[in-house]
Amino acid sequence: MTPEIRLIEDSEFEAVYESALRAFGVSVSDEAKADAREWNELDRLFGAFDGQDVVATSGIVSLPIVVPGGEVVPAAAVTLVSTSPTHRRQGLMKRGMVALLNQAIERSEPLATLWASESNIYGKVGFGAAIDAADLEIAPHQAALRYDAPVGPGRVRVYDSERAAQIIPDVYALATIGLPGTMIRRQRDWDYMFKDVGAKRDAKPVMQFAVYEEDGVERGYARFRNTEHWRDMHAEFEIEVFEFHSVDATAHAELWRFLTSIDLVSKIKVRGARSRNRIATLLEDPRRLRSISGESIWVRLLDAEAALGARRYSVPGELVIEIDDPMGYADGRFALTGGPDGASVAVTKADPDIKLGAEALGSAYLGTPRLTELAWAGRVEGDAQAVALLDAMLRWSDEPHCTVHF
Ligand SMILES: CC(C)(COP(=O)(O)OP(=O)(O)OC[C@H]1O[C@@H](n2cnc3c(N)ncnc32)[C@H](O)[C@@H]1OP(=O)(O)O)[C@@H](O)C(=O)NCCC(=O)NCCS
Repeated sequence: MTPEIRLIEDSEFEAVYESALRAFGVSVSDEAKADAREWNELDRLFGAFDGQDVVATSGIVSLPIVVPGGEVVPAAAVTLVSTSPTHRRQGLMKRGMVALLNQAIERSEPLATLWASESNIYGKVGFGAAIDAADLEIAPHQAALRYDAPVGPGRVRVYDSERAAQIIPDVYALATIGLPGTMIRRQRDWDYMFKDVGAKRDAKPVMQFAVYEEDGVERGYARFRNTEHWRDMHAEFEIEVFEFHSVDATAHAELWRFLTSIDLVSKIKVRGARSRNRIATLLEDPRRLRSISGESIWVRLLDAEAALGARRYSVPGELVIEIDDPMGYADGRFALTGGPDGASVAVTKADPDIKLGAEALGSAYLGTPRLTELAWAGRVEGDAQAVALLDAMLRWSDEPHCTVHF
């Protein structure tokens, strides 16, 4: 019998969550399950039921996202996607995705986002890899700052989660104003972070927050863990930085100076950094900063008119864009007139200047990767002038960044 896909009942949450955990091969404590129940939006969770058994799961959390130009666009953040090993490659993920995306449309969300466990899954359902991110690593003794790195009059203080909860949300808001890819966290995202669910679940050291302040005003923070490790009687502690937000270059340099000066540490890792160069350009010996590139979130356009109309464009231009979306959501031809002050978009029958798939447009929508690069991969059609124009329009001075995991 074909499994039925439907919204779950509240009473089914535990069974659905456990099915997803099994698909990932992990188990968690009852406390972590209760935290997950609080964090998820139960009226946005779907399950595939084979008789009594939950054999696939998927869900949405409502996380609006900042797009180039600063507008905050409602977005469906897709989470908890799993199919039981017994039911894989039978189309259940795809069917679950249709159920999710239909609900997002009903709720007028022009965009959907997700983090992918593997990069070859979600192109099939119209998502494109949208934000570059890098894992960085350096030994503190090789991380000296350049002679001309900014020095501020302020100081760094380290807070635990309880104290940080009073301060960090405001600093985050200030440091990410207008930054494409920033998500507007729900109170439950903050609660989840400050409860330090990850530390409880994976038996890790507690989360710490280094906050840089000047004249009593907080101007940046780094969220990190410091893990104790000894080898042959030598300390080899490891710092992992998960978020690093600052309002200006001084706060940025002071926080990095602090992180690289903590005693007993032999390695600093920055997870999902905004860009390698933001840190490399501060260093006396930038080549020491090792980097592994990947991506953070994937983006899908659901309502092309609304999504293209919500962002601003770096240079003025007028183009007809034809989007091919086999799932139908963003399919069509759109006349886009856009520039630094705003945009208008209308459905048109005019001949297209540019043709591309929903996946490619999802990739380029937040400003990276460049449309010209996608064109070189054969994923954008159009004459060189039209591609160059849309490329210049879509690029944005601030490259997108996302530090919300869902
Ligand atoms: C990834 C996962 C959800 C896919 O579920 P599924 O029900 O097998 O997927 P579907 O049968 O709907 O596949 C849809 C399409 O994606 C492809 N696909 C699915 N998983 C893929 C993978 N891991 N690698 C490559 N292609 C994949 C299928 O071949 C199919 O392609 P088609 O449309 O050309 O036929 C499932 O394998 C899983 O639970 N994996 C472990 C947990 C995980 O990684 N979850 C994702 C979290 S972001």
